[in-house]
Amino acid sequence: MCGIVGFTGNQPAAPILLDGLKKLEYRGYDSAGIAVLCDEKITVSKVTGRIANLCEKTEDGKNVPGFTGIGHTRWATHGAPTDNNAHPHLSNDGKFAVVHNGIIENYVLLREELIADGFVFESETDTEVVVHLIEKYYQGDFKKAVIKTTTRLHGSYALGVVCADEPNKVFVAREASPLILGVGVGENFFASDVTALVSHTRNVIYLEDGEFAEVTPEAITVFDCLGNTVDKKVSRINWDIQSAEKGGYEHFMLKEIMEQPRAVKATIAPRIQGSEIKLDDLEISDEYLKSINKIIITACGSACYAGCAGKYAIEKLCRIPVHTELASELRYSDPLIDEQTLLIVLSQSGETADTIAAIKECKSRGAKVLSLVNVVGSTIAKISDYTLYTWAGPEIAVATTKGYTTQVALLYVFALYVARHLNRIDEPTYANLLETLEDMPSKVQEALDSNPHIPNLAKHYTPDRSVFFIGRNTDYAASLEAALKLKEISYIHAESYAAGELKHGTIALIDEHQPVIALCYNKDIYEKTMSNVVEVKARGADVLAVTFKHNVKIASVADDVIYVPNVETVFSGIVEIIPLQLLAYHVARENGCDIDKPKNLAKSVTVE
Ligand code: G6P
Repeated sequence: MCGIVGFTGNQPAAPILLDGLKKLEYRGYDSAGIAVLCDEKITVSKVTGRIANLCEKTEDGKNVPGFTGIGHTRWATHGAPTDNNAHPHLSNDGKFAVVHNGIIENYVLLREELIADGFVFESETDTEVVVHLIEKYYQGDFKKAVIKTTTRLHGSYALGVVCADEPNKVFVAREASPLILGVGVGENFFASDVTALVSHTRNVIYLEDGEFAEVTPEAITVFDCLGNTVDKKVSRINWDIQSAEKGGYEHFMLKEIMEQPRAVKATIAPRIQGSEIKLDDLEISDEYLKSINKIIITACGSACYAGCAGKYAIEKLCRIPVHTELASELRYSDPLIDEQTLLIVLSQSGETADTIAAIKECKSRGAKVLSLVNVVGSTIAKISDYTLYTWAGPEIAVATTKGYTTQVALLYVFALYVARHLNRIDEPTYANLLETLEDMPSKVQEALDSNPHIPNLAKHYTPDRSVFFIGRNTDYAASLEAALKLKEISYIHAESYAAGELKHGTIALIDEHQPVIALCYNKDIYEKTMSNVVEVKARGADVLAVTFKHNVKIASVADDVIYVPNVETVFSGIVEIIPLQLLAYHVARENGCDIDKPKNLAKSVTVE
């Protein structure tokens, strides 16, 4: 969590830092700060709350002069969101300032040691030990002091450090937290994420774990932990600037919902070539595919629910058993894994800490790892055996939408590819499903366009108490994501239940105050869910049904209906979620919630 930025060049640093922090605010938004070097002095400005407060305090950076600086937007881990706990942290002699994303696991011992040495702590953060260690080890060599400090740290960090003795320099270090360097002309940058860099430069260097960089206006020099120079490749970012802006929409979330036809197309279309599916340059041999006897899909949050949607498709088409497991559970579960297990990992950011830990655990037991990731060059992409990218473009809203649907789309592509390569699918079914995938972007557009009554439904399904979602099979997978979407942005309690389970307990909660959203899209089984709808209706619940186009039967049972375009059931997870994303959005809007930055959440969860 947390976002860090840095700049050194010939323009005022503070406005550039503030602009970068605004782009990174999705990573954490409980407090923020900047440190700017001017006349061999460091000025620190910090506030509790949003970047807007920091802009106000610094008059959009105008009252903080200087051409070199670092900035931070925080998602509190150690210590409450207060001004004191906000970064940057200053050394006692005022010579160093540090911003940090990650967790210093041994900070308690280091803190005791530094207090015994006479250092005074101003915050409750784990980060503050870093700046005092740098002061402790500094003997006129900034680089040496930073490298020596990192040898004392256990845990994860992306660090940005400035030193008053070196007015045109920023030092950065990376270990298990993202850090990207932006290469400019006469100016250079760093940030946790490319979204903070694209308006300045598209040329970037991805720092690896254990690497450091000295950033000056003229040059970026990367070192290993021994201080030896490392040659780095400059990569080109192909995201356009507009994709990281709201583009006239009230919220990023709505913009990203609307972008889904394009994002799904970008993910699917390049992989269909004639009547074949080509998985980029993935070197998965048919021999290896034949050897797989189990697939485990792991991820966190919505990405895990995308895995649930994918599980149905892979099992149905490939006839390989698939087990979906939350990464935070898998990592500690002593998993039953061997060389014949394929671990599929889903992650929009590619930086989620629990997911990374689950990969390491499973790899150590012999599994091969295929990751489906959105952010190019992210940690998960690097540590996986195989990587396929979802081409969703930057996703800024904390609640994922296009990130989710592109993950599901890529799982569908993968399922069909494997089914074909294992000869587990007949030709007509293959051709039909390939066409379904090719048509998916237009079906997504249709799903966006065909339910103009959703804002009105949102007024009605805005209860005080909670909302239940029910569904079976593929509908159940979609209902898990639908419930999460509603609760994370509207703060309304929402739960998803496998419809058949209702009678085993949950039905006790049903009365006339309990709205139920019933997903009845899966044509193989929707009549079974309909009977559950009848049961909850009989107990007084208001029911909103989500079903396939032209299903008139359901209108006589449910109070309200959302119709979803018809696609083959096995690939229905994308179109089915679209109206429910819109419903969650409009309910949250009705409730006046901060849709793009829901309370207590962060988009990139880089802590356990
Ligand atoms: C956070 C985000 C979710 C996301 C989850 C996993 O909780 O708010 O939207 O699904 O992390 O993130 P990842 O980047 O690994 O997909």
